[in-house]
Amino acid sequence: MPDAIFAHPRLAPVYDVFDGDRDDLAAYLDIVGELGAERVLDVGCGTGCLAIVLAESGRIVMGADPARASLEVARAKDVRARITWVHGDATALPPFDADLAVMTGNVAQVFLTDEDWAGALQGIHAALRPRGYLVFETRRPEWRAWEKWAAEAGRLAVDIPGVGSVEQRTEVTGVNLPFVSIRGTYTFRADGAVIVSDSTLRFRSRHEVESSLITHGYRVLDVRQAPDRPAREFVFIAQRTT
Ligand SMILES: C[S@@+](CC[C@H](N)C(=O)[O-])C[C@H]1O[C@@H](n2cnc3c(N)ncnc32)[C@H](O)[C@@H]1O
Repeated sequence: MPDAIFAHPRLAPVYDVFDGDRDDLAAYLDIVGELGAERVLDVGCGTGCLAIVLAESGRIVMGADPARASLEVARAKDVRARITWVHGDATALPPFDADLAVMTGNVAQVFLTDEDWAGALQGIHAALRPRGYLVFETRRPEWRAWEKWAAEAGRLAVDIPGVGSVEQRTEVTGVNLPFVSIRGTYTFRADGAVIVSDSTLRFRSRHEVESSLITHGYRVLDVRQAPDRPAREFVFIAQRTT
């Protein structure tokens, strides 16, 4: 069950506003070009920010996400209906013969158990063409992002056209490494509705991720920095070995 911030029908439509500028996506577009990918699968596509840009660049795109409310936001952006939207998680991807699968926005950290992560890697493997690529990011545990989040925790109010003023309050609710839990509390000032979204993320080491990729039929071609977040992220470029 995805977190409320992705799955709640009132929170998903305001997700992009609080997520801010997507300076992270340019590097993924560059990698898609570098690897010559024409068929791209966006796993955990959320509100479709990358999928839309990829489709605009002429790629054949499938976006998959288990949060129906986020998919509805994504579909509304896809005014020319160029993208295939799939309601489902990484273990339930339809055949797509993708040249490349991508997970942006630290989707890799939502898979909390080894079984969930293994299932995602296997599901993506099956949706890729032979020798297809998997590109994704995960926050470096060494960066200790949760400490920055705790220090920066606070309130942010934004006026959203058609919705009114919405206040977001964020807090770190638990650190039990490799798991970190965070809470966002959203107050819709127009009617006073308060909706809470709790999330838990898993921070995996570089070694742990590389080992799991190898176990599940990938070779690791490169591990890069995210140019917009230097030293904070691992960006894995992996390829099916078969
Ligand atoms: C932080 S958002 C990132 C969304 C998008 N990739 C982006 O960059 O804007 C994480 C996404 O992972 C999705 N998600 C949660 N569990 C998932 C699963 N088991 N398989 C695939 N996606 C999942 C959520 O619904 C959410 O849309």
